[in-house]
Amino acid sequence: MMIRSSIFPSLLLVLTSTAHTYAKEMTDIEALASKPTRCTYEYAFEMYGAHCGGLRLSKIPSLRGGIEILDFSDNKLQEIHADTLSSYSSIKFLYLSENQIYSIHKDAFAYLTNLQTLDLSKNVILELTDAIFQLPSLRKLYLNGNPLLHLSLSSMEISKPIKAPLELLDLSDCKIKVLPDFGILPQLVLYNISHNPLITLDAQAFSSMCKLTKVDLSESIEKIKLCDLKMSIMWFQERKIYFQLADYSQLNSREFENCPKFNIPDRFNTSYHKCENAYTEIQSVNTSRRTWLTIAGGLFGFLVGFVLLLYIMHRHNVAQTKKTSKAIHSAPPSDVDKNATAILLNNAS
Ligand SMILES: *[C@@H]1O[C@H](CO)[C@@H](O)[C@H](O)[C@H]1NC(C)=O
Ligand SMILES: *[C@@H]1O[C@H](CO)[C@@H](O)[C@H](O)[C@H]1NC(C)=O
Repeated sequence: MMIRSSIFPSLLLVLTSTAHTYAKEMTDIEALASKPTRCTYEYAFEMYGAHCGGLRLSKIPSLRGGIEILDFSDNKLQEIHADTLSSYSSIKFLYLSENQIYSIHKDAFAYLTNLQTLDLSKNVILELTDAIFQLPSLRKLYLNGNPLLHLSLSSMEISKPIKAPLELLDLSDCKIKVLPDFGILPQLVLYNISHNPLITLDAQAFSSMCKLTKVDLSESIEKIKLCDLKMSIMWFQERKIYFQLADYSQLNSREFENCPKFNIPDRFNTSYHKCENAYTEIQSVNTSRRTWLTIAGGLFGFLVGFVLLLYIMHRHNVAQTKKTSKAIHSAPPSDVDKNATAILLNNAS
Protein backbone atom coordinates (compact mmCIF):
# COMPACT_ATOMS: atom_id res chain seq x y z
CA MET A 1 0.00 0.00 0.00
CA MET A 2 2.85 2.32 0.88
CA ILE A 3 4.48 1.66 -2.46
CA ARG A 4 1.30 2.13 -4.36
CA SER A 5 0.48 5.48 -2.77
CA SER A 6 3.96 6.74 -3.52
CA ILE A 7 3.72 5.57 -7.11
CA PHE A 8 0.43 7.25 -7.77
CA PRO A 9 1.53 10.91 -7.51
CA SER A 10 4.47 10.18 -9.76
CA LEU A 11 2.16 8.47 -12.20
CA LEU A 12 0.00 11.56 -12.34
CA LEU A 13 3.06 13.70 -12.81
CA VAL A 14 4.18 11.53 -15.68
CA LEU A 15 0.76 11.69 -17.23
CA THR A 16 0.45 15.44 -17.00
CA SER A 17 3.93 16.17 -18.29
CA THR A 18 5.20 14.53 -21.45
CA ALA A 19 2.78 11.70 -21.90
CA HIS A 20 4.34 10.38 -25.09
CA THR A 21 7.94 10.08 -24.01
CA TYR A 22 7.04 8.42 -20.76
CA ALA A 23 4.42 6.11 -22.17
CA LYS A 24 6.67 3.06 -22.02
CA GLU A 25 8.01 3.83 -18.57
CA MET A 26 4.53 4.35 -17.34
CA THR A 27 3.44 0.90 -18.41
CA ASP A 28 6.48 -0.50 -16.61
CA ILE A 29 5.47 1.26 -13.45
CA GLU A 30 1.94 0.08 -13.89
CA ALA A 31 3.12 -3.45 -14.41
CA LEU A 32 5.18 -3.22 -11.26
CA ALA A 33 2.28 -1.85 -9.29
CA SER A 34 -0.13 -4.50 -10.53
CA LYS A 35 2.29 -7.38 -10.04
CA PRO A 36 1.05 -9.83 -7.43
CA THR A 37 2.92 -9.70 -4.17
CA ARG A 38 1.86 -13.10 -2.99
CA CYS A 39 1.63 -16.55 -4.52
CA THR A 40 -1.23 -17.16 -6.90
CA TYR A 41 -2.95 -20.46 -7.49
CA GLU A 42 -3.87 -21.89 -10.80
CA TYR A 43 -5.39 -25.04 -12.17
CA ALA A 44 -3.62 -26.01 -15.38
CA PHE A 45 -2.94 -29.25 -17.23
CA GLU A 46 -5.31 -30.92 -14.77
CA MET A 47 -2.94 -29.96 -11.98
CA TYR A 48 -3.14 -27.54 -9.13
CA GLY A 49 -0.19 -25.19 -8.93
CA ALA A 50 1.19 -22.39 -6.81
CA HIS A 51 3.03 -19.63 -8.62
CA CYS A 52 5.41 -17.55 -6.59
CA GLY A 53 7.95 -16.61 -9.25
CA GLY A 54 9.75 -13.27 -9.08
CA LEU A 55 8.32 -12.11 -5.75
CA ARG A 56 11.69 -11.45 -4.06
CA LEU A 57 10.82 -13.91 -1.33
CA SER A 58 13.53 -15.33 0.87
CA LYS A 59 11.28 -17.99 2.35
CA ILE A 60 8.63 -20.29 0.94
CA PRO A 61 5.42 -19.02 2.53
CA SER A 62 2.80 -21.36 3.91
CA LEU A 63 0.98 -22.69 0.86
CA ARG A 64 -2.27 -24.49 0.27
CA GLY A 65 -2.09 -28.24 0.51
CA GLY A 66 -2.39 -30.56 -2.46
CA ILE A 67 -0.34 -28.47 -4.89
CA GLU A 68 1.32 -30.43 -7.67
CA ILE A 69 3.29 -27.59 -9.21
CA LEU A 70 5.36 -25.09 -7.27
CA ASP A 71 7.02 -22.32 -9.20
CA PHE A 72 9.34 -20.51 -6.84
CA SER A 73 11.85 -19.41 -9.44
CA ASP A 74 13.51 -16.00 -9.41
CA ASN A 75 13.35 -15.40 -5.66
CA LYS A 76 15.87 -15.13 -2.86
CA LEU A 77 15.74 -18.54 -1.25
CA GLN A 78 19.13 -19.49 0.19
CA GLU A 79 18.66 -22.70 2.10
CA ILE A 80 16.37 -25.67 1.77
CA HIS A 81 15.96 -27.29 5.15
CA ALA A 82 14.56 -30.71 5.93
CA ASP A 83 11.16 -29.18 6.71
CA THR A 84 11.03 -26.45 4.04
CA LEU A 85 9.00 -28.62 1.67
CA SER A 86 8.06 -31.56 3.84
CA SER A 87 4.35 -30.70 3.96
CA TYR A 88 3.99 -30.60 0.18
CA SER A 89 4.45 -34.24 -0.68
CA SER A 90 2.06 -33.94 -3.64
CA ILE A 91 4.46 -31.75 -5.62
CA LYS A 92 5.37 -33.20 -9.00
CA PHE A 93 7.00 -30.19 -10.61
CA LEU A 94 9.29 -28.00 -8.56
CA TYR A 95 10.92 -24.94 -10.05
CA LEU A 96 13.58 -23.30 -7.92
CA SER A 97 15.82 -21.79 -10.56
CA GLU A 98 17.35 -18.34 -10.16
CA ASN A 99 17.42 -18.22 -6.40
CA GLN A 100 20.48 -18.01 -4.19
CA ILE A 101 20.36 -21.57 -2.96
CA TYR A 102 23.68 -22.73 -1.60
CA SER A 103 22.60 -25.26 0.97
CA ILE A 104 20.29 -28.23 0.53
CA HIS A 105 19.60 -30.51 3.46
CA LYS A 106 19.97 -34.17 2.65
CA ASP A 107 16.31 -34.77 3.53
CA ALA A 108 15.06 -31.64 1.75
CA PHE A 109 13.12 -33.62 -0.83
CA ALA A 110 12.64 -36.82 1.14
CA TYR A 111 8.86 -36.46 1.33
CA LEU A 112 8.50 -35.51 -2.32
CA THR A 113 8.14 -39.05 -3.60
CA ASN A 114 6.00 -37.86 -6.53
CA LEU A 115 8.56 -35.33 -7.71
CA GLN A 116 9.11 -35.69 -11.47
CA THR A 117 10.84 -32.48 -12.41
CA LEU A 118 13.31 -30.61 -10.24
CA ASP A 119 14.78 -27.38 -11.51
CA LEU A 120 17.65 -26.10 -9.39
CA SER A 121 19.38 -24.23 -12.18
CA LYS A 122 21.13 -20.89 -11.71
CA ASN A 123 21.84 -21.10 -8.04
CA VAL A 124 25.05 -21.35 -6.07
CA ILE A 125 24.74 -24.88 -4.74
CA LEU A 126 27.79 -25.69 -2.68
CA GLU A 127 26.99 -29.17 -1.63
CA LEU A 128 24.66 -31.47 -3.45
CA THR A 129 23.05 -34.37 -1.68
CA ASP A 130 23.15 -37.82 -3.21
CA ALA A 131 19.52 -38.16 -2.09
CA ILE A 132 18.46 -36.16 -5.18
CA PHE A 133 19.65 -38.98 -7.42
CA GLN A 134 17.62 -41.45 -5.41
CA LEU A 135 14.23 -39.73 -5.71
CA PRO A 136 11.88 -42.49 -6.89
CA SER A 137 9.94 -40.52 -9.53
CA LEU A 138 12.48 -37.95 -10.68
CA ARG A 139 12.68 -37.84 -14.48
CA LYS A 140 14.06 -34.39 -15.19
CA LEU A 141 16.84 -32.79 -13.22
CA TYR A 142 18.21 -29.36 -14.00
CA LEU A 143 21.40 -28.39 -12.20
CA ASN A 144 22.80 -26.12 -14.88
CA GLY A 145 24.29 -22.76 -14.07
CA ASN A 146 25.61 -23.67 -10.63
CA PRO A 147 29.20 -22.41 -10.73
CA LEU A 148 30.22 -24.14 -7.50
CA LEU A 149 28.59 -27.48 -8.15
CA HIS A 150 31.78 -29.08 -9.50
CA LEU A 151 33.26 -28.94 -6.03
CA SER A 152 30.67 -31.23 -4.51
CA LEU A 153 30.22 -33.36 -7.62
CA SER A 154 33.87 -34.33 -7.63
CA SER A 155 33.78 -35.43 -4.00
CA MET A 156 30.29 -36.90 -3.90
CA GLU A 157 29.66 -40.58 -3.33
CA ILE A 158 26.77 -41.53 -5.59
CA SER A 159 24.99 -44.74 -4.57
CA LYS A 160 24.59 -46.92 -7.64
CA PRO A 161 22.50 -47.88 -9.39
CA ILE A 162 20.76 -44.60 -8.79
CA LYS A 163 17.04 -44.92 -8.10
CA ALA A 164 15.80 -41.85 -9.95
CA PRO A 165 14.42 -42.79 -13.38
CA LEU A 166 16.25 -39.88 -15.00
CA GLU A 167 15.37 -39.07 -18.60
CA LEU A 168 16.94 -35.63 -18.72
CA LEU A 169 20.01 -34.48 -16.86
CA ASP A 170 21.29 -30.97 -17.31
CA LEU A 171 24.75 -30.30 -15.90
CA SER A 172 25.64 -27.57 -18.31
CA ASP A 173 27.57 -24.51 -17.24
CA CYS A 174 28.75 -25.87 -13.88
CA LYS A 175 32.52 -25.56 -14.30
CA ILE A 176 32.85 -29.34 -14.32
CA LYS A 177 36.24 -30.71 -15.34
CA VAL A 178 35.58 -34.41 -14.85
CA LEU A 179 32.05 -35.75 -15.16
CA PRO A 180 30.72 -37.74 -12.22
CA ASP A 181 30.12 -41.45 -12.62
CA PHE A 182 26.39 -42.13 -12.35
CA GLY A 183 26.61 -45.78 -13.26
CA ILE A 184 23.75 -47.19 -15.31
CA LEU A 185 21.16 -44.64 -16.42
CA PRO A 186 18.77 -46.86 -18.37
CA GLN A 187 16.21 -44.19 -19.20
CA LEU A 188 18.38 -41.19 -19.89
CA VAL A 189 17.52 -39.62 -23.24
CA LEU A 190 19.10 -36.18 -23.05
CA TYR A 191 22.39 -35.41 -21.34
CA ASN A 192 23.40 -31.77 -21.35
CA ILE A 193 27.02 -31.26 -20.36
CA SER A 194 27.66 -28.21 -22.47
CA HIS A 195 29.63 -25.15 -21.33
CA ASN A 196 31.94 -27.02 -18.98
CA PRO A 197 35.74 -26.96 -19.09
CA LEU A 198 36.04 -30.75 -19.42
CA ILE A 199 39.56 -32.13 -19.39
CA THR A 200 38.53 -35.67 -20.18
CA LEU A 201 35.57 -37.51 -21.62
CA ASP A 202 35.09 -41.07 -20.44
CA ALA A 203 33.51 -42.93 -23.34
CA GLN A 204 32.63 -45.89 -21.14
CA ALA A 205 30.19 -43.72 -19.16
CA PHE A 206 28.04 -43.28 -22.28
CA SER A 207 27.80 -47.01 -22.80
CA SER A 208 25.79 -47.21 -19.55
CA MET A 209 23.18 -44.89 -21.04
CA CYS A 210 21.54 -47.19 -23.55
CA LYS A 211 18.56 -44.94 -24.38
CA LEU A 212 20.64 -41.83 -24.89
CA THR A 213 19.70 -40.01 -28.08
CA LYS A 214 21.31 -36.63 -27.56
CA VAL A 215 24.32 -35.31 -25.72
CA ASP A 216 25.10 -31.62 -25.76
CA LEU A 217 28.86 -31.08 -25.65
CA SER A 218 29.00 -27.59 -27.07
CA GLU A 219 31.78 -25.41 -25.60
CA SER A 220 32.91 -28.29 -23.39
CA ILE A 221 35.57 -30.27 -25.23
CA GLU A 222 37.95 -27.54 -26.30
CA LYS A 223 40.49 -28.50 -23.62
CA ILE A 224 40.53 -32.19 -24.53
CA LYS A 225 43.12 -33.52 -26.95
CA LEU A 226 41.48 -34.38 -30.22
CA CYS A 227 42.56 -38.02 -30.25
CA ASP A 228 41.24 -38.51 -26.72
CA LEU A 229 37.78 -37.78 -28.07
CA LYS A 230 37.96 -40.49 -30.70
CA MET A 231 36.52 -43.29 -28.61
CA SER A 232 33.47 -41.27 -27.51
CA ILE A 233 32.83 -40.04 -31.03
CA MET A 234 33.05 -43.59 -32.34
CA TRP A 235 30.61 -44.75 -29.73
CA PHE A 236 28.16 -41.96 -30.56
CA GLN A 237 28.34 -42.90 -34.21
CA GLU A 238 27.98 -46.59 -33.49
CA ARG A 239 24.91 -46.05 -31.33
CA LYS A 240 23.47 -43.22 -33.42
CA ILE A 241 23.62 -40.74 -30.56
CA TYR A 242 23.35 -37.17 -31.72
CA PHE A 243 26.20 -35.16 -30.24
CA GLN A 244 26.06 -31.42 -30.32
CA LEU A 245 29.28 -29.47 -30.67
CA ALA A 246 29.96 -25.79 -31.13
CA ASP A 247 32.29 -26.64 -33.99
CA TYR A 248 32.45 -29.90 -35.94
CA SER A 249 35.30 -28.88 -38.23
CA GLN A 250 37.94 -30.50 -35.99
CA LEU A 251 36.35 -33.86 -36.59
CA ASN A 252 36.84 -33.50 -40.30
CA SER A 253 40.53 -32.68 -39.93
CA ARG A 254 43.46 -34.82 -41.04
CA GLU A 255 44.62 -34.83 -37.41
CA PHE A 256 41.47 -36.56 -36.22
CA GLU A 257 41.63 -39.01 -39.08
CA ASN A 258 45.20 -39.91 -38.16
CA CYS A 259 44.42 -40.65 -34.53
CA PRO A 260 45.37 -44.22 -33.58
CA LYS A 261 42.76 -46.73 -34.70
CA PHE A 262 41.13 -49.13 -32.29
CA ASN A 263 38.00 -51.20 -31.87
CA ILE A 264 35.30 -50.45 -29.39
CA PRO A 265 36.27 -52.49 -26.33
CA ASP A 266 34.15 -55.42 -25.16
CA ARG A 267 33.39 -53.83 -21.83
CA PHE A 268 31.39 -51.14 -23.65
CA ASN A 269 29.05 -53.72 -25.07
CA THR A 270 28.86 -55.40 -21.68
CA SER A 271 27.72 -52.26 -19.88
CA TYR A 272 25.42 -51.39 -22.78
CA HIS A 273 23.68 -54.75 -22.49
CA LYS A 274 23.49 -54.43 -18.72
CA CYS A 275 21.75 -51.12 -19.25
CA GLU A 276 19.38 -52.63 -21.80
CA ASN A 277 18.47 -55.41 -19.40
CA ALA A 278 17.78 -52.86 -16.67
CA TYR A 279 15.58 -50.95 -19.09
CA THR A 280 13.62 -54.06 -20.09
CA GLU A 281 13.10 -54.87 -16.44
CA ILE A 282 11.74 -51.39 -15.72
CA GLN A 283 9.44 -51.61 -18.71
CA SER A 284 8.06 -54.98 -17.65
CA VAL A 285 7.48 -53.74 -14.11
CA ASN A 286 5.66 -50.73 -15.54
CA THR A 287 3.63 -52.91 -17.91
CA SER A 288 2.59 -55.31 -15.20
CA ARG A 289 1.71 -52.41 -12.94
CA ARG A 290 -0.41 -50.98 -15.75
CA THR A 291 -2.02 -54.37 -16.36
CA TRP A 292 -2.90 -54.72 -12.71
CA LEU A 293 -4.26 -51.20 -12.66
CA THR A 294 -6.39 -51.98 -15.72
CA ILE A 295 -7.68 -55.17 -14.16
CA ALA A 296 -8.38 -53.44 -10.85
CA GLY A 297 -10.05 -50.57 -12.72
CA GLY A 298 -12.17 -52.97 -14.74
CA LEU A 299 -13.17 -54.89 -11.65
CA PHE A 300 -14.08 -51.71 -9.86
CA GLY A 301 -16.15 -50.53 -12.83
CA PHE A 302 -17.91 -53.87 -12.95
CA LEU A 303 -18.70 -53.74 -9.24
CA VAL A 304 -20.01 -50.19 -9.50
CA GLY A 305 -22.18 -51.22 -12.44
CA PHE A 306 -23.42 -54.25 -10.59
CA VAL A 307 -24.32 -52.30 -7.48
CA LEU A 308 -26.05 -49.71 -9.65
CA LEU A 309 -28.03 -52.46 -11.37
CA LEU A 310 -29.04 -53.91 -8.03
CA TYR A 311 -30.14 -50.51 -6.86
CA ILE A 312 -32.19 -49.86 -9.99
CA MET A 313 -33.81 -53.28 -9.66
CA HIS A 314 -34.52 -52.58 -6.03
CA ARG A 315 -36.10 -49.23 -6.88
CA HIS A 316 -38.13 -50.88 -9.60
CA ASN A 317 -39.34 -53.57 -7.22
CA VAL A 318 -40.27 -51.05 -4.58
CA ALA A 319 -42.21 -49.04 -7.13
CA GLN A 320 -43.90 -52.17 -8.41
CA THR A 321 -44.88 -53.33 -4.90
CA LYS A 322 -46.25 -49.92 -4.07
CA LYS A 323 -48.28 -49.95 -7.27
CA THR A 324 -49.77 -53.39 -6.65
CA SER A 325 -50.50 -52.71 -3.02
CA LYS A 326 -52.11 -49.46 -4.05
CA ALA A 327 -54.09 -51.37 -6.68
CA ILE A 328 -55.23 -53.93 -4.11
CA HIS A 329 -56.26 -51.27 -1.63
CA SER A 330 -58.04 -49.12 -4.13
CA ALA A 331 -59.77 -51.95 -5.96
CA PRO A 332 -63.54 -51.92 -5.29
CA PRO A 333 -64.71 -55.18 -3.72
CA SER A 334 -66.38 -57.05 -6.47
CA ASP A 335 -69.69 -58.71 -5.65
CA VAL A 336 -69.27 -61.23 -8.46
CA ASP A 337 -66.15 -62.61 -6.82
CA LYS A 338 -67.79 -62.73 -3.43
CA ASN A 339 -70.72 -64.66 -4.80
CA ALA A 340 -68.42 -67.04 -6.61
CA THR A 341 -66.59 -67.78 -3.40
CA ALA A 342 -69.87 -68.31 -1.58
CA ILE A 343 -71.06 -70.74 -4.25
CA LEU A 344 -67.80 -72.63 -4.07
CA LEU A 345 -68.03 -72.86 -0.29
CA ASN A 346 -71.59 -74.03 -0.45
CA ASN A 347 -70.72 -76.73 -2.96
CA ALA A 348 -67.90 -77.98 -0.79
CA SER A 349 -70.07 -78.43 2.32
C1 LIG B 1 22.11 -27.29 -22.84
O1 LIG B 1 22.36 -26.23 -21.94
C2 LIG B 1 22.69 -25.01 -22.57
C3 LIG B 1 23.10 -24.03 -21.48
O2 LIG B 1 22.45 -24.22 -20.28
C4 LIG B 1 21.50 -24.54 -23.37
O3 LIG B 1 21.76 -23.32 -23.98
C5 LIG B 1 21.18 -25.61 -24.41
O4 LIG B 1 20.03 -25.26 -25.13
C6 LIG B 1 20.97 -26.96 -23.77
N1 LIG B 1 20.90 -27.97 -24.80
C7 LIG B 1 19.83 -28.74 -25.01
C8 LIG B 1 19.93 -29.73 -26.09
O5 LIG B 1 18.81 -28.64 -24.34
C1 LIG C 1 29.45 -54.70 -29.80
O1 LIG C 1 28.12 -54.53 -30.33
C2 LIG C 1 28.10 -54.11 -31.68
C3 LIG C 1 26.67 -53.85 -32.09
O2 LIG C 1 25.75 -54.67 -31.42
C4 LIG C 1 28.77 -55.18 -32.56
O3 LIG C 1 28.77 -54.77 -33.90
C5 LIG C 1 30.18 -55.38 -32.07
O4 LIG C 1 30.79 -56.44 -32.79
C6 LIG C 1 30.21 -55.74 -30.59
N1 LIG C 1 31.56 -55.76 -30.15
C7 LIG C 1 32.05 -56.78 -29.45
C8 LIG C 1 33.49 -56.65 -29.10
O5 LIG C 1 31.39 -57.73 -29.10
